[in-house]
Amino acid sequence: MADKKALNVEDAFKKIISHCKEYGFIFPSSEIYDGLSAVYDYGPYGVELKNNIKTYWWKAMVQMHENIVGLDSAIFMHPKVWKASGHVDAFNDPLIDNRDSKRRYRADNLIEDYMVKLDDKANKEVEKAAKRFGDAFDAALYRETNPRVAEILRKRQEISERYQLAMNNNDLVEVKQIIIDLEIADPDTGSKNWTDVRQFNLMFSTQYGALAGENEADNRIYLRPETAQGIFVNFLNVQKSTRQKLPFGIAQIGKAFRNEIVARQFIFRMREFEQMEMQYFIRPGEEKKWYAYWKEARMQWHRTLFPENKVKFHDHEKLAHYADAACDIEFQFPFGFKELEGIHSRTNFDLGSHQELSGKKMQYFDPELDESYVPYVVETSVGVDRMFLATLSYALQDEEVPDAKGGVAVRTVLKIPAILAPIKAAILPLVAKDELTEKARHLFHQLKLVTQCQYDEKDSIGRRYRRQDAIGTPYCITVDFETLEDECVTIRDRDSLAQVRLPIAEVANYLNKHISFSTLLG
Ligand code: GAP
Repeated sequence: MADKKALNVEDAFKKIISHCKEYGFIFPSSEIYDGLSAVYDYGPYGVELKNNIKTYWWKAMVQMHENIVGLDSAIFMHPKVWKASGHVDAFNDPLIDNRDSKRRYRADNLIEDYMVKLDDKANKEVEKAAKRFGDAFDAALYRETNPRVAEILRKRQEISERYQLAMNNNDLVEVKQIIIDLEIADPDTGSKNWTDVRQFNLMFSTQYGALAGENEADNRIYLRPETAQGIFVNFLNVQKSTRQKLPFGIAQIGKAFRNEIVARQFIFRMREFEQMEMQYFIRPGEEKKWYAYWKEARMQWHRTLFPENKVKFHDHEKLAHYADAACDIEFQFPFGFKELEGIHSRTNFDLGSHQELSGKKMQYFDPELDESYVPYVVETSVGVDRMFLATLSYALQDEEVPDAKGGVAVRTVLKIPAILAPIKAAILPLVAKDELTEKARHLFHQLKLVTQCQYDEKDSIGRRYRRQDAIGTPYCITVDFETLEDECVTIRDRDSLAQVRLPIAEVANYLNKHISFSTLLG
């Protein structure tokens, strides 16, 4: 049974990957040279969907907040930025190799996965009991009093404390010992023949300018591992030029690079990826309030796209070097609940460190308090590529629909919200006859000014519908022979398959109404 489930999960994930390739969403990078691991290229529909995701975030975060403004800072930054931020010294992952399988893993992930298994075990016990006892069941009490569940949770707590201590002390011998004591095996082969754990810095470095090769250490610069530092070093430029008062935020979308140890799950963990980050600058002492606020606000945003049971919070066991509180918003990917977004209370760590290393003041004068201080920061950070994968994996479905002969057919359909769809409307002449194609093309040229449209006259109308379903087009607009008489077209709804007949003059309004941001963000 477990194997069958694992197989189904793997099949579902494989289907998403092959769909991405077949329909021009995502291709492996440098494919003709067998690809470059953990690097991907976005194809024609991929780039549209990705742009729409970014616009949707930008709309919600920047355009809908008077006190959040945008920035587009450079990827290359002065190397001291990464010294001050702590990334040179502390942006490491503990890696461990399995001597038999020659596979490399993150030691922290092996231990965290073990704890997730204990959580699952405890939850299953509670679910079983809930079914047995019915309405009167008190889950919290059961967790505390049922000896089996209490024992699982006690063990989990013990591991968590031991693990956190080891990570915080950078005690890699102890991290390995935990793996040995818990008898954690290579997830792929079952081997327990582990090497020692060692730290691995995730930043990519390169040589800068004409002096490359001469004085390597002096000229080393890094590809940014997060976009946030571009925001921190521009904090005063932005605050002064926009006359913002605290609290205010700076948002940025851009590429980030990490030399990930394990990068196996398609676009979930890449070495080159994109982030949508917002740093919210606040008064010291208000960090708890704003951390709670942004947790909730960001969860609400995800819930405009996904149902409640697909997203959940996960508090960090181990805090990053800059944070005093942190959690993830996790999404149920085909391979389980995993991090989609991070929300971090970053204190005044970054601005304070930059002030110290640069010797330049990074302070804000608060007119209401009549004092200057280094602001605190709450950050929200979501990966564009992970949003893409979440959107796609939630929306891609095989569905039974009536076929033309009164039977049942299976269609593959991408039920993404219209606002995110790569193509909003396909304009299709019923058949490729001059009088229809001319009319349809004329409509296409009108509607392309309204939204992203596509004209298609190849293949039968049924095939064209299927193709548009597979790329998530919410509306197919068909021009038929009656159109020539009555100036009306048929609009087919992707999800309900309902068809409405509308005068051509009303189509632009119809589309505007159905694909507006206010359908989700209003
Ligand atoms: N500035 C804070 C920061 O970078 P993070 O939790 O390391 O925090 C934020 O990353 C988000 O960036 C993650 O929630 C994830 O969506 C995305 N992300 C991080 N590493 C990634 C990778 N290797 N591939 C794809 N997305 C990644």
